[in-house]
Amino acid sequence: MTQSRDWLIQWLRDAHAMEEQAETMLSGQLSRLESYPELGDRIRQHLDETRQQASRLKSCLDRIGEESSAMKDAGGKLTAMAQSISGVFAGDEVMKGSLASYTFEHMEIASYTMLIAAANAEGEAEVARVSEQNLREEEAMADWLKSHLAETTQMFLSRAAADSDAAKR
Ligand SMILES: [Fe+2]
Repeated sequence: MTQSRDWLIQWLRDAHAMEEQAETMLSGQLSRLESYPELGDRIRQHLDETRQQASRLKSCLDRIGEESSAMKDAGGKLTAMAQSISGVFAGDEVMKGSLASYTFEHMEIASYTMLIAAANAEGEAEVARVSEQNLREEEAMADWLKSHLAETTQMFLSRAAADSDAAKR
């Protein structure tokens, strides 16, 4: 096995672990978004996409001949980040969640950009195709989050002001 191929497989495993962490993070966020239906709907859609992304990566790994048990190695690395993202925040969890999601999407974008280059270098057209498909979904999610961030912030601030008025009464 060439060294580039080892790296390709390693990065595929890392990407698979990353999507599993994304699933945990998005599920955690969803449970706190009852008051933000539009954001909740988009996150629910991306949760579906995330599960499909993980399964596409798993198919690539299976085809390349890796044991799925080997994927567990990479799982721990991102756990801390996902926990910090899905953890408890002081009142502004919807904003911390938006910040974390936008950051996480960009880590995913960078990961798939690396994977595409590595797959092309190894002549792995299917891995490149899957990575491009995942990349487009991550870019669409990052764009959506960015274009709705001001609106989410305004909604958060209005709700916070209303809660604070209610508390004074
Ligand atoms: Fe994503």
